[in-house]
Parts: sequence; C-alpha cells; structure tokens
Amino acid sequence: MMPVLILLHLVGVIIWVGGMFFAHYCLRPVAVAQLAPPQRLPLLAGVLGRFFAVVAIAVGVILGSGFAMFFVVGFKNALLHWHVMMATGLVMAGVFAYIYGGVYPRLVAGVTTQDWPAAGAAMDRIRKLVAFNLHLGFLTIVVATLGAYFGRG
Ligand code: HEM
Repeated sequence: MMPVLILLHLVGVIIWVGGMFFAHYCLRPVAVAQLAPPQRLPLLAGVLGRFFAVVAIAVGVILGSGFAMFFVVGFKNALLHWHVMMATGLVMAGVFAYIYGGVYPRLVAGVTTQDWPAAGAAMDRIRKLVAFNLHLGFLTIVVATLGAYFGRG
C-alpha cells in the first residue's frame, strides 16, 4: 500500500511545485517583458485557470495520500519530519485555497470587465502568494527527504 500512496503523493507534488516553478520563473517574466497588460492579463488568467483546476485535484491527492500514510503507520508512530511536512503542507493547501477561491476570481472579474488596474493588482497578489507557496514547497521537499537524517528518522 505505501508505495502506491507515495507514488500518488509525489505525482501530485511534482505537478503542483513544478507547475509553480514554471509559472513563476519562466512564464510570467517573459509575459511581463513582451506583453502589455491587456494582452498579458487575459493570457495569465487563462493559463492559471487551467493550472489551478489541476492543482485543486493534486492538492486533494497529496493530502489524501499523505494522511493515508499516517493512518497506515499510526499517528503516534509518525516521524517528526512527517509532522513538519503535514504542517507546512496544510499551510500550502490553505494558501492555495485562498488564491483560487479569494484572489483568482478578482483577476477573472478584472479581465472580464477590462479593468486592467484591478486585474493587475489581483495578479500581483497571486504572484506573491505563489512565490510563497513555491518556496515553502521546496522547503517541504527538503524536510520530507532529508528529514530522515535527523531525529528518530
Ligand atoms: C498535509 C500534507 C502532507 C502529509 C500529511 C504528508 C505526509 C507524507 C508521508 C506520511 C510521507 C511518507 C514519508 C516516508 O515514507 O518517509 C510523505 C512523503 C513525501 N512527501 Fe508528504 N505530506 C504532505 C504534504 C507534502 C507536500 C506539500 C510536499 C511537497 C511540497 C510533500 C513532499 C513529500 C515528499 C518529497 C515525500 C517523499 C519522501 C521520501 O520518501 O523520502 N508532502 N508525505
């Protein structure tokens, strides 16, 4: 059972964290350099709409498989770095829920009404929150993998 859960867990993590890396470090800088807001913001709203729909599934799979692994070994037997991963993973999921449910609709509304300042402000907020989640994601991967060197791991 555990190998299947780890496979599901890692596929979700790769899609989520890898997608954030691509969006933040590759797509957005080039879009900012080459496109004016009326072209850039609808493009980014469309790209992010597709990405966030997939991430919503990935987050469900990551949390489901992660907690399933806790149930398999029993919460009291879980290693310290598993608990740290759970905590940072839940923060990441909360930030994603806020982006998708709270900020992304403002980007879509701004693009729909062609209110570029409002859409730009929402996009800037999304950029900062995605940067936060991306780097917390890297940290979580470090904890998840190197954590075994420390403590009872
Ligand atoms: C509530 C959220 C999460 C829970 C409950 C959870 C739980 C777990 C558990 C129990 C394992 C098995 C560890 C082992 O076999 O030693 C695992 C593996 C792993 N998790 Fe998570 N996880 C969560 C979120 C995340 C997130 C957000 C990331 C990355 C951004 C992540 C990255 C990893 C990695 C890379 C492994 C493989 C570690 C290894 O096998 O060496 N996890 N997770």
